[in-house]
Amino acid sequence: MSAFSPPEVRELISEKRIADRVAELAAQISREYAGRQLVLLCVLKGSFVFAADLARAIALPVRVEFLGVRSYGADTKSSGVVQITQDLTRPVDGEDVLLVEDIVDTGLTLTYLREQLRSRNPASIKVAALLHKPARIQREVEIDYLGFTIDDVFVVGYGLDYAERYRNLRFLGVLDPEHIAS
Ligand code: IMP
Repeated sequence: MSAFSPPEVRELISEKRIADRVAELAAQISREYAGRQLVLLCVLKGSFVFAADLARAIALPVRVEFLGVRSYGADTKSSGVVQITQDLTRPVDGEDVLLVEDIVDTGLTLTYLREQLRSRNPASIKVAALLHKPARIQREVEIDYLGFTIDDVFVVGYGLDYAERYRNLRFLGVLDPEHIAS
């Protein structure tokens, strides 16, 4: 299959490695939530590809909700200000919620989202994150299901963007810094 692969992006994690890891996480989630129904809360936009793959690999009934947040604008640094751009369509009180994040960088977004969610009284909140960049963490956050730990590089692809581009790459790659506006 021909796939989009721009020259300014160096592959970091291949499509195959992502698929294998997503399958492992889904198997673990399916075991640990056996007999229950799960609300997969996909944090837009970056986690839409991860959430779609994870949802289809989980062998349990799931309900999918979307939460739109914006923390970066067109920059590559977190502003620390998280704005909710789209809210849930149905309440989650009494439900087991799995927050699905693309990447935990400073941890500010996840800390904010956990607090927001807690006030909606779900039975439980856990977090699945595809990527974690521990070098930049500002708030300690608990990630229950983690895909990969990466160095302090700006990554794109598999849902993640730079200025709204590259989300449709099938792999995760590092964007050449010369393409990042300073
Ligand atoms: P945090 O609040 O700093 O943890 O940032 C979380 C959000 O920033 C993620 O959900 C991403 O949308 C975005 N982000 C952080 N690092 C990267 C990156 O390397 N590439 C693309 N987006 C990123």
